Amino acid sequence: MSELPWGRRFLMCPPEHFGVLYEINPWMHREVAVDLDRARHQWGELVATLVEAGAEVELLDSQPELPDLVFTANAGTVNNGRYVPSRFRHPNRQPEVDHDIAWFTEHGFDVAPLPEGIGHEGAGDALPFRGVFLSGYRSRSDAGAHGPLSALLGAPVRPIELVDERLYHLDLTFCPLDDRRALVAPHAWDSYGRKVVEALVPEPFVLEDDEMLAFCANSVVVGTTVVMPACPPRVGRQLERWGFDVVPVDVSEFLKAGGGCRCLTLALDVSVGPQAGDAPPPSSESEAAR
Ligand code: ARG
Repeated sequence: MSELPWGRRFLMCPPEHFGVLYEINPWMHREVAVDLDRARHQWGELVATLVEAGAEVELLDSQPELPDLVFTANAGTVNNGRYVPSRFRHPNRQPEVDHDIAWFTEHGFDVAPLPEGIGHEGAGDALPFRGVFLSGYRSRSDAGAHGPLSALLGAPVRPIELVDERLYHLDLTFCPLDDRRALVAPHAWDSYGRKVVEALVPEPFVLEDDEMLAFCANSVVVGTTVVMPACPPRVGRQLERWGFDVVPVDVSEFLKAGGGCRCLTLALDVSVGPQAGDAPPPSSESEAAR
């Protein structure tokens, strides 16, 4: 078993301007007030927990009138130092993109935008596992995004349709744990998506409905530490049996906006597929020719 090759460097954004100011997912209700002091405290605990587990955290400045900028998982998709900015479905989040692009440009990433008119909400809907990206679509990202995304990321992308409105981003339904294991919520996927994951994940742990709705899959994995918004006993027992340390971090203020631990982070150290400078793998043809 080896640890995930990514998840040691994250981008996060402090919740100075966080709130529920509009409703773009079934969890958001404008009449439910956010306690900003509590949100700050919870976010600080999440940062401290990730750092304690061995991760580095980089910061994106918060911006007035962009309450969801805290959910950096949606800033875009990163692979091998390349950054593909998100194209948000809802106009409320579209102004975030300029701030995201500015950060990635300043930090030396190669910025590669998707073609106009193709929606994709970044790592919230694209998670690497065993050499491919799984990419969720329907409520937020477009089915047509996976081709262009694959071309820009230089890695295979497999689409999964998200059929449960409440689990509107892939990272609410899938959590890679190490090179063989993942938390999975097949009830939230179409039958093709289920088959893709079945073929890809040697040792899945299938979440029950209440576990997936507790945002169990929206966890951040740093080596053998799993930082979770909530840890139901059955999930905790399995993770411990598998050798993980489970650290629950209360992110209840952020759940009011429909996001948990994973949504508040964006992994910057993802590296899937051939990297610049790598020798190309021998193809079966060149093997045969020898
Ligand atoms: N309120 C945000 C939205 O609806 C929450 C984003 C959650 N992010 C995620 N990666 N699942 O867009």
